Amino acid sequence: MAAHVSDSVLQAWSQFAARLEDFAHPQHLSSALSCLNLLVTDALRHVPDVIAYLSRLRNQSVFNFCAIPQVMAIATLSACYNNPQVFQGVVKIRKGQAVTLMMQATNMGAVQSIIAQYSQEILQKVSVTDPSREKTLRILNVICEKSLSPAALSSRAHHISPVYVSAAMLLAALSWQYLNATAGQPPGGADMQGH
Ligand SMILES: *[C@@H]1O[C@H](CO)[C@@H](O)[C@H](O)[C@H]1NC(C)=O
Ligand SMILES: *[C@@H]1O[C@H](CO)[C@@H](O)[C@H](O)[C@H]1NC(C)=O
Repeated sequence: MAAHVSDSVLQAWSQFAARLEDFAHPQHLSSALSCLNLLVTDALRHVPDVIAYLSRLRNQSVFNFCAIPQVMAIATLSACYNNPQVFQGVVKIRKGQAVTLMMQATNMGAVQSIIAQYSQEILQKVSVTDPSREKTLRILNVICEKSLSPAALSSRAHHISPVYVSAAMLLAALSWQYLNATAGQPPGGADMQGH
């Protein structure tokens, strides 16, 4: 998701420094961090789509193939967020952390809790003086809702509660039984299919 940086954000660094190299200078650290945090926030915008996409995958090896880079990405975003070391060297997640993530990211529930965990971690690091603070808090709030909600497991809308899903499935099963039972009779019962 970090790769999908919008054009407006590619230009965003110019709001914070005259030249890209300036970010390496300690006296520009504050604007460098503001720019970094804006870039991380932009990447976070894609997390709800990531959750929606992953929740629709049904093949285990395809799921792992897609989920692993995404959990690595959110862990990396958390490691980079508001971190001055980004301008002094390479910031990477630890090898042990990467291995743990790879082993855990095998089902939607686990991926959601990893995303929830790193979103919380980023939330703890949002500074009161950060210019993108409001934007960051807003997207973290959306991510939090999506990553804690079991409804994300269904590809349907987020407002459908599990009770309604069960009721809908029961109704579907009963309708199917009814249609199956009346299959030998002339058509007309087919109208029952409408939900
Ligand atoms: C899952 O996808 C892989 C790769 O496309 C394929 O080799 C495998 O047969 C699929 N498994 C199932 C259960 O469909
Ligand atoms: C559906 O109807 C067929 C006969 O038309 C019957 O053999 C089958 O058991 C029925 N299935 C269910 C689930 O009711």
